[in-house]
Amino acid sequence: MMKLGRYFITSMVCGIFLVACSAQRDNQIRKLRFDDNWCFHYGDMPVSVVFHSDTVQWKAVDIPHDWSIEMPFVKSEGGIAVGQTQGGTGWYRKIFKISETEPSERKLLYFEGVYMESEIWLNGKKVFYHPYGYTSFYCDITELCNPSGQENVLAVKVKNEGENSRWYSGSGIYRHVWLVTTGRLHLHEWGVFVTTEIFSGNRAKVNVAVDVSNQSDKNTDAVLHVTIRNDKGEVVGEDTSTCTLNEDRTETVYHSILVDKPQLWSMDTPVLYTADIKLLSDGIYKDVLSIPFGIRSISFSAKEGFLLNGVPVKLKGGCVHHDNGLLGAVAIDRAEERKVELLKANGFNAVRCAHNPPSEKFLDACDRLGLLVIDEAFDQWQKPKNKNDYHRFFNEWSEIDLASMILRDRNHPSVIMWSIGNEIQERSDSVGVEIAQKLKSIVKKYDATRPVTAAINDYWDNPTLKWEASFNAFAPLDVCGYNYMWWEYENDSKSYPERIIYGSETTAMERAVNWDLVEKYPNIIGDFIWTAIDYLGESGIGHAINVNKGSKNPPQFLDWPWFNAWCGDIDICGYRKPQTALRDILWGNKKIAMLVHLPIPEGQEERVSYWGWPDEESSWNWEGNEGKEMNVKVYSRYSSVRLYLNDMLLGEKSIVGEGLDKYSAQFKVKYIPGILKAVGVDAGVEREECILITSGIPVEIDVKADRSILQDTKNDLSYVRIELVDKEGNIVSDQDCKVELSISGKGRILSAGNACPTDMESFRSLSPMTYKGRALAILQPKGGKGCMRLTVKTEKYGKKTITINVE
Ligand code: GAL
Repeated sequence: MMKLGRYFITSMVCGIFLVACSAQRDNQIRKLRFDDNWCFHYGDMPVSVVFHSDTVQWKAVDIPHDWSIEMPFVKSEGGIAVGQTQGGTGWYRKIFKISETEPSERKLLYFEGVYMESEIWLNGKKVFYHPYGYTSFYCDITELCNPSGQENVLAVKVKNEGENSRWYSGSGIYRHVWLVTTGRLHLHEWGVFVTTEIFSGNRAKVNVAVDVSNQSDKNTDAVLHVTIRNDKGEVVGEDTSTCTLNEDRTETVYHSILVDKPQLWSMDTPVLYTADIKLLSDGIYKDVLSIPFGIRSISFSAKEGFLLNGVPVKLKGGCVHHDNGLLGAVAIDRAEERKVELLKANGFNAVRCAHNPPSEKFLDACDRLGLLVIDEAFDQWQKPKNKNDYHRFFNEWSEIDLASMILRDRNHPSVIMWSIGNEIQERSDSVGVEIAQKLKSIVKKYDATRPVTAAINDYWDNPTLKWEASFNAFAPLDVCGYNYMWWEYENDSKSYPERIIYGSETTAMERAVNWDLVEKYPNIIGDFIWTAIDYLGESGIGHAINVNKGSKNPPQFLDWPWFNAWCGDIDICGYRKPQTALRDILWGNKKIAMLVHLPIPEGQEERVSYWGWPDEESSWNWEGNEGKEMNVKVYSRYSSVRLYLNDMLLGEKSIVGEGLDKYSAQFKVKYIPGILKAVGVDAGVEREECILITSGIPVEIDVKADRSILQDTKNDLSYVRIELVDKEGNIVSDQDCKVELSISGKGRILSAGNACPTDMESFRSLSPMTYKGRALAILQPKGGKGCMRLTVKTEKYGKKTITINVE
């Protein structure tokens, strides 16, 4: 490979800092991480002060950064919707120098996500404005960048003001920033589109469309060389083309490359190929890109449902918001990857990104680990859901934002559908239908290979309309998302036999009826629970609380001290919640599972919200309730189940055959500590069993890291589970205690806490409580190889130290 020249970036902020690198013109050098050496000031100030005053108190921060999660939880303007966190306005600043022996002619900043209304300023002048908080954007700084060797002052104003979100958004530059440099003749990462066709006879055709831009003032001849590499790095196909580019023009150059015996991408075999694209002119490399992709086919029809590589797949889906629990919105690579690992480990094969495009790393992880994705653009169009939300920008910006999502994400094999909106108010009127058609045509302009979908809800937001009006909302869509409307699936399938349906949002308690319909009909292709993982904000939407008998129902959302939604299958620390018991049965992960309802105090009754789950636990620890009757629920697809307590048969019951309680049987059992055992019975023969054991008293804390070796980068994290255990090592879920955390060596505690939806202690506290016997600490390398040592101390249960190496 030829060298384009040595290239140096010097960066200085909050003191003196220098980064220098030199390399050939490859992906690493055309795109440099720009996350380090930023500082931050909370509050607005005049631009002149940002650029010229030494009196401003700047605080050094790492990007990705979310100021809302750093501040204490208080009763805030956003309130329940944003989990009692604070927004406001903030300024970021970074001082850097660019010096090059051969100057690069084009310089861009690439922001993956800034929440929201960001203004980019360079050397005192405004360069860019980007209102949407969830789409990525490039900002060309070529003209305003000072010549090599001179200092540049970059400032970013971020405004998260007023009621602009229905969930926790976070505030600030919460995803990565990059510096991209190219020559006047160049490629564009979003200008490459790789599509694949699979032929019988074990062959595939890989089509690579490449946009080449000539921003110079003369016509130029260019050569494009495209190489396809497999997952071992071996070249499996290539193609070369030539083109003449007129001055100031962008042309698309098409390549088709045959690949023999392709390894198809699927959830079980998430094999990735890479397209290396090299641009040359006059025999010199001008630009290089490497784009990962998968070879796979998708098809959707009412007759056959969803086919991946010709094989029917039912979508075992979950919706997720973008936050990372205790980290807030901060999109650290490992946190994004872990979310995907958790989903996979819990049986999901698909995720719906509610209600906005996720981070790039999230999609990378879905590609690599094999998780299908519905990528979603908007939660509102022209009509508001909150007075300060995106509707203010929709007319001017929606085309740009939708294009940003498609162009950025269309090479990800995991993405199978584009969603243009969630529960859009104007979905069924003529304006809404026209908008949907326009959005669809924008999607198809950039990617005609994937269907367009949206999540359509009942008309609780416009009671003058009946469900029949949904015909208009569904008409522009290729695949129809139903939010909480399973009872219309069969009718609608009869009325519109071509309709492809999935549950874009469903609840945990209605899961059995939903999944039955998915299993029964080919045109009903999947089910996405609201939500797969708990999220911050929409406080208490998934509550189950006790109230005095006869009292009014609590409101849908719960006020202070609730701060998290609590409707997820997995809690914000990554632990499975009891509601997963039924899903395990439905999806065949387990044959039998069992939960026990918490005793309800005398004079009270339980109220479970529509998104909630009764207050059940997978536990037989009920100290203080000896002799009291407990409600035990066994979940199974066996026709009946037997229940034993300490080896004594308590009875056999048939599994309920229909309705919301389908696949369960209920028992009343007087509590005696010991072993509760449920056994599935098939034709009178006992098959599989499930047991709950009363744990002993807590004797110590157990501390387990998901990673004991970390890379020396702030993008790697170790999630350390802290659990109260008995002498056998069983978690004691009915006891809690405070844990004192301290760390030494090459790491820091980035965050710590528990999954309790009402424990509002800051996630930066170094002495969190356990909740149901468990807490979590998230550790981050702070620079340099070596090791870090986390010590966890308790008053009653001793202390433990764990060592994590940084390599
Ligand atoms: C739905 C909405 C979701 C979430 C959910 C639970 O109607 O689409 O974003 O708000 O309700 O509150």
